[in-house]
Amino acid sequence: MDRLDLVDPELYRSGVPREYFRWLRDNDPVAWHDEIDGPGYWVLTRYDDVVAANRDWELYSNALKGSSIEEARSEEELAGRRRIFVNQDPPDHTRHRKLVSSAFTPGQVKRMTPLIEATCSRLVDEILDGEVHDFVTVAEELSFQMVATLFGVPEGDWPALIEITRALADFQDPEVNPSLAPRPEIQHQMFSYATELLAKVRMDPVAHSGIVSELVNAQIEEDGVAHRLTDLEIIAFFPAVLVGGLSTTAHTMVEAVNSWIEDPELFAEWSGEECPPAVVEEMLRWRGPVMSFRRTATADHELHGASIRAGDKVLLSYASANRDERHFADPDVFDASRVPLDHVAFGGGGPHFCIGAQLARLDLRLVFSELFRRVESFELAGDPVRLRANQFAGWLHLPVRATAR
Ligand code: HEM
Repeated sequence: MDRLDLVDPELYRSGVPREYFRWLRDNDPVAWHDEIDGPGYWVLTRYDDVVAANRDWELYSNALKGSSIEEARSEEELAGRRRIFVNQDPPDHTRHRKLVSSAFTPGQVKRMTPLIEATCSRLVDEILDGEVHDFVTVAEELSFQMVATLFGVPEGDWPALIEITRALADFQDPEVNPSLAPRPEIQHQMFSYATELLAKVRMDPVAHSGIVSELVNAQIEEDGVAHRLTDLEIIAFFPAVLVGGLSTTAHTMVEAVNSWIEDPELFAEWSGEECPPAVVEEMLRWRGPVMSFRRTATADHELHGASIRAGDKVLLSYASANRDERHFADPDVFDASRVPLDHVAFGGGGPHFCIGAQLARLDLRLVFSELFRRVESFELAGDPVRLRANQFAGWLHLPVRATAR
């Protein structure tokens, strides 16, 4: 089969290439792809291989070249990437991740429940007014509120910051980023905002809460010496957590509504009821938003007969692994009763496993519950537009009209 250019964001305008991934899983599970504007890359498409690579961080590094599919354009850009903990390996990664992980414990996440429920209820009131709503805007508002609260962003800053976060998350789409300016240029806007916020937090620490103020007070040990984090170290947490939190969760909500429109019976079993956790998990497996993450091999090795060399780029395809028929029976069917439901939508384990997984699960379950309880049906009320992006499978617009139960 002819190779598809999996790095080309344009490819995903017509959806995830499921048939292509199936072919790769069956015929070429470690498939080399030449790249027009880069060194070329391997794609791992089988479940077991993705899980193994996720856990073997010594052989598959995030720090060497970062976790983004596109290459850094200079050493300086690469150094900038490495300040963000998703682009580090243990032990640096462990030290930095630990600084924010207390905010994501099950107890902390559970405390968000009343806020998320109140927002869900308000947003569903709004969409049940008989008018047309872009469900992407609804989902983003909800996801952003949750992550901004957790992060400690003052409410007055939300409207501006959601725009910046969205620009960074969707930087490959010309509607959001008309000049298609590269990611570091857009990231710069977020760093400017973060620097301003840090100055305010340092000036009046009592008036602020959340992850930002914890980071301001945190100590980190390097070479046996403890020091407070510099502004440069703290602002590096902003893109990872805000982008990670905004777009993935929102895309999953939007995809659920799109799937509901495609098949009005899909969620009929839970109509009028709470959403069971398994429905969220199966939605994430079936149409999860993160297509892949990048690693770089640290040593020459063989996998299924392919010779991977030290320095080679390797894409871990979560979109493919979640449909691997070697692991999931009838993988293309949505079936919330499947056992086990051990998808890799949040990663396959290992040090980089999604830090926001519990928060995303709670958020999705509360949103789906509110929709199942109160919405009878959705209809499409305009042209849906898929996002131009090569890492997230999502929608740029999904105009809908909702009917109340
Ligand atoms: C449905 C929602 C979500 C999905 C599908 C998702 C998926 C993922 C995946 C696949 C990874 C990479 C795993 C790996 O490389 O091993 C990841 C990492 C990450 N996610 Fe999520 N995510 C979601 C929600 C969130 C939320 C709500 C937040 C924050 C509020 C978040 C923050 C992060 C961060 C910071 C990382 C990097 C972790 C590290 O490198 O240690 N994500 N996520």
